[in-house]
Amino acid sequence: MFSLDHLCVYVLITAYDFDDFIWSTATASYQIEGGWRADGKGLSIWDKFAHTPLRVFNDDNGDIACNSYNKVDEDVAILKQLKVTHYRFSISWPRVLPDGTTKHINEAGLNYYHRLVDALLAANIQPHITLYHWDLPQVLQDIGGWENETIIVKFKDYADLIFSRLGNKVKFWITINEPYNIANVGHGYGAAAPGIFRPGTLPYIVGHNLLKAHAEAWHLYNDTYRAKQKGIISITINSDWSEPRNPNKQEDIDAARRVVQFYIGWFAHPVFNGDYSNMMKTIIQERSLAAGLLKSRLPEFTPEEIKRVQGTYDYFGFNHYTTVLAFPVKYGNLQGAGTIADRTWLDSGSSWLKVSPFGFRRILNFIKAEYGNPPIIITENGMSERGPTDLNDIHRSYYYEKYINQVLKGIKPQLNLESYLLDNVDIRGYTAWSLMDNLEWATGFSERFGLFYVNHSDPKLPRVAKTSVTLYSTIINCNGFPDPALGPHECLNTVPEGT
Ligand SMILES: *[C@@H]1O[C@H](CO)[C@@H](O)[C@H](O)[C@H]1NC(C)=O
Ligand SMILES: *[C@@H]1O[C@H](CO)[C@@H](O)[C@H](O)[C@H]1NC(C)=O
Ligand SMILES: *[C@@H]1O[C@H](CO)[C@@H](O)[C@H](O)[C@H]1NC(C)=O
Repeated sequence: MFSLDHLCVYVLITAYDFDDFIWSTATASYQIEGGWRADGKGLSIWDKFAHTPLRVFNDDNGDIACNSYNKVDEDVAILKQLKVTHYRFSISWPRVLPDGTTKHINEAGLNYYHRLVDALLAANIQPHITLYHWDLPQVLQDIGGWENETIIVKFKDYADLIFSRLGNKVKFWITINEPYNIANVGHGYGAAAPGIFRPGTLPYIVGHNLLKAHAEAWHLYNDTYRAKQKGIISITINSDWSEPRNPNKQEDIDAARRVVQFYIGWFAHPVFNGDYSNMMKTIIQERSLAAGLLKSRLPEFTPEEIKRVQGTYDYFGFNHYTTVLAFPVKYGNLQGAGTIADRTWLDSGSSWLKVSPFGFRRILNFIKAEYGNPPIIITENGMSERGPTDLNDIHRSYYYEKYINQVLKGIKPQLNLESYLLDNVDIRGYTAWSLMDNLEWATGFSERFGLFYVNHSDPKLPRVAKTSVTLYSTIINCNGFPDPALGPHECLNTVPEGT
């Protein structure tokens, strides 16, 4: 048996020919902005969730967060220090549309995003904007939120406003971030806003409306804005990779396949291949009937809807953090799947995140094979720490080094070199999560993903570089890893002849 991932050789690969490779970092509005009532902003479901006692660790909230609403210059300065080519951030829907609809546009809130975009462009950093990163206007939640299909046209109207106002300056768009988590965590077990505990049917209804809302925003851009604004737009899908717990057991292999189809496949299959996968449809149907329901919990797309959703991508936006090991679990006569982590994988500051870099390369290859070799932009990847602050974040540096190395092994060979080392996956960019320590959703400020430390004991909330900033900016500067034979920051810049 031979696999690169089991070689004890640290293979360094330089992506020096990727002139246009996206090296980015990311944040989300509720996690960093603060200014929760500033200048006419409406409330979001996260404002309400975080103000409800016992929902967020330590009852932390994003009222001030990193105060990015008042720190455009500081945020752009640290992005420059990092040398990123792009910056991924999200727009707070209720900051721009306090009552959720375009009947009332909050120009002051919109101005924040104009200032940010202008400062980024002046620094030669391309904005990569997420329209929806989880902070739904609370007034829309009050009429059902993502459960109510009238949300689809409201999301489209919101997208229309943002394209019309910012689209002449912004070329990179994401409609919706991590529909899996919105559906499952927000509406299944309720550990994120809107905090609804209704596992079973509700997550599938929410997922269905998220897919349709994404598709409408994508078509709007494709039909109305693309010719003039010349940008690209997609959805960002998150998924762990899943391996069989025992690779010599067929039932573990089958369980691992089910986990992958129910995770990445739930949203990727309709967008890239058309409709939900047969595996999802069959299993959910069987389980629903076994539970005494008259029809499947999974809603059906009509043939017209399948066509409307399929192909609504310009790239595969992909968030990835970790790998799980799958094994079968019986529900009566039906097969489910459970997951565990390998005990040899290193911990992070988050219980769900184990350091397992090899899975990144596997799932990138899976995306290539399963979804027709789409261009991929990795829109999130990173790790957390917990406990006392150590600016020398060697664990994060280790994580980035190993994970980015797996990405580079997956990239297509350069210069038509035949190489058994590389997988020819069409990877166009990498985004480190996150620019700075911020409100990590329900775990508050206790889990910190930042490249930059934010000192919450200091009212000025200064951003201070951790050691991983040096590592990441070196990788960006070299467009790959520094040359192992040279100094720690020296690039492998000898481009082979014939380029
Ligand atoms: C769904 O939203 C519409 C308005 O967009 C509202 O009239 C209706 O009452 C909502 N349905 C529910 C169940 O809240
Ligand atoms: C996107 O727009 C182009 C140009 O109008 C059109 O040819 C194409 O069919 C559209 N794509 C989809 C999936 O509708
Ligand atoms: C955070 O700020 C406080 C108050 O200014 C200061 O005493 C402390 O040293 C800072 N911590 C770090 C790690 O910089």
